Amino acid sequence: MKYYLTTPIYYVNAAPHIGHAYTTIAADTIKRWKRMQGFDVILATGTDEHGQKIERAAAAAGKTPQQFTDIISGEFGEQWRVLGLDIDRFQRTTAENHAAQVQDLFRRCLENGYIYKGSYSGQYCVFDELYVNDAKPGDPCPECGRITETVSEENFYFKLSAFQEKLLDLYEKQPDFILPETRRNEVLAFVKKGLSDLSISRTTIKWGIPVPNEPKHVFYVWFDALTTYMSAVAGENLWPADLHLIGKEIVRFHAIYWPAFLMAAGLPLPKRIFAHGWLLFENDKMSKSRGNIVRATPIHKVLGTDALRYFLLREVVFGQDGSFSYDALVGRYNSDLANGLGNLASRTLAMINQYRGGVIPASDGNQQIAQTALECTAVAIESYDKFEFSKALEAVWALIGSVDKYIVEQAPWKLAKGGDAEAKRLDEVLYTSAEALRIVTALLGPVLPESAAKIWMQLGFDTPLDHIKTAALHWGHLKGGQSLRSVSAVFPRADVKASIEQMMDLEKLEVARQLELMGKKPEPAPAAPATPTITIDDFVKVDLRVGIVKDAAVVKGSDKLLHLHVDIGEAEPRSIVAGIALAYKPEALVGRKVVIVANLAPRKLRGIESQGMIVAASREGDIPVLVAPIDDVPPGTRLK
Ligand code: MSP
Repeated sequence: MKYYLTTPIYYVNAAPHIGHAYTTIAADTIKRWKRMQGFDVILATGTDEHGQKIERAAAAAGKTPQQFTDIISGEFGEQWRVLGLDIDRFQRTTAENHAAQVQDLFRRCLENGYIYKGSYSGQYCVFDELYVNDAKPGDPCPECGRITETVSEENFYFKLSAFQEKLLDLYEKQPDFILPETRRNEVLAFVKKGLSDLSISRTTIKWGIPVPNEPKHVFYVWFDALTTYMSAVAGENLWPADLHLIGKEIVRFHAIYWPAFLMAAGLPLPKRIFAHGWLLFENDKMSKSRGNIVRATPIHKVLGTDALRYFLLREVVFGQDGSFSYDALVGRYNSDLANGLGNLASRTLAMINQYRGGVIPASDGNQQIAQTALECTAVAIESYDKFEFSKALEAVWALIGSVDKYIVEQAPWKLAKGGDAEAKRLDEVLYTSAEALRIVTALLGPVLPESAAKIWMQLGFDTPLDHIKTAALHWGHLKGGQSLRSVSAVFPRADVKASIEQMMDLEKLEVARQLELMGKKPEPAPAAPATPTITIDDFVKVDLRVGIVKDAAVVKGSDKLLHLHVDIGEAEPRSIVAGIALAYKPEALVGRKVVIVANLAPRKLRGIESQGMIVAASREGDIPVLVAPIDDVPPGTRLK
């Protein structure tokens, strides 16, 4: 039986970090679990490479979009390889077979009467690639809070409004179509409010898949991106997907748009969408501007990928938000992996080597531990099935704890000194520990593939761990007489301070490497402010005003400058030349609120008089971001 699961395809405007790794590791874990249950599992991931955001990131790096996306897409592929993730398909939206699939989906929707031509004039969030229908110029995006841009263009529209009832019917008939329940409720509430038609093409950008027979139009990135789930397995008879695993912020695209597109095209729907929560850094949102993004590679190098996998799946309740910190990571590593699992493995294997020459003795084992193993296994299986990884791991650790206690109580070191009766009891202790370790190891295969496989080998099995099925988890499967292989520690204890320092040093190197890849210079460490302090009298000399952009055009012969006319409540709008062309398209600025320095001495740039300066936040090597008031104020309002 097949099981086809997917991760989101990641945007290539930024290199991979621990948030992307979180989803992909969880998907890899599900893959391994499903395989244990006997499914033929296919896991697809990939990269989302079109759209304005990528076009701008490439421009900021001084690269063509294709050059830029080749580099970053390669980084994602490499990241999954380094982390040992078992990816079957890596689909890029720039792949040729993908474009054909998107165009086919469009044609089907068109033929079935769900697409028409119209025009959109309104707000757009470039960061989320989202039309914000009810926003006004200067309004922030409801998803990310960034200021939306005004766009006005001819578009192809998808009749999303025709799908309200059909979608509600789907959610009703398949209550587990969207999991967890909280996400399902959000989607239900959203759809019940009514759905507006959706613009699915753009004429203002070139970096996209062309709409058939409409050379001016390229597809809206989400129409393009979602179709990856089909193009990744085109011609393989694997569609529909059994599971789309995603982060909670993209539920709407997956649970509303995607099934609506497929219904319109007359294609089968995915069976389930599971949205996990957000991974925070020390309870704070990870973001470029906060400089607190964590990468997976340094953790992989210092503690191993399994330590990261275990931490993410044990510490964070899957489906809810959770927090990452180096302290907590090393803490869990030492307490649960080095002391817990690692200790049980080395103790058990060392005793069998010492007392029985490395051969596991035959016995029925201790019946109480057998019962605990049965119960813990049942909880773990049920929890894995529901993607409740932390609960599954808790159950396995409950078994580890019981066996540890049992060994201490039985005091095998004393039994080893006794006669025949004690020798029989020692056999029972050794068998019980080995059989429990076998079950524990098999249950942990999906989460700790590398280390569990090592313990499995040391226990002397010939069949590789990833061939083991859940049917083999019952007590007594282990046969006496099996010889151990050579034993080595799987989780050596980590020195907390040294390992954190090492990870943080590697993190700095990784950031520098990624920046260089993206054509950017590493940021200098924030130095003490070099600017002298000023008095309020100095500050009031700067006349900062709110303005509205009336028009904007590229300055001929320059790829950085735009010429704007900005209304600041005076008789005539100001003529302003600004170095923001790499970050903003001129048409996207019209109607936007900006802040300008109104009393800057005029000067000529490329022959055009600039009567002021536009205020933008910009970091060394990064594209500028315009500054605007959060609430509505009339043009000319002074900033104080
Ligand atoms: N390209 C779209 C998805 C298209 S799918 C057809 C996109 N890409 S993304 O690069 O922004 O990746 C989003 C996904 O990465 C999230 O849905 C989540 O799976 C993962 N995460 C990225 N950062 C994350 C955290 N900080 N925490 C948890 N997951 C996060 O959206």
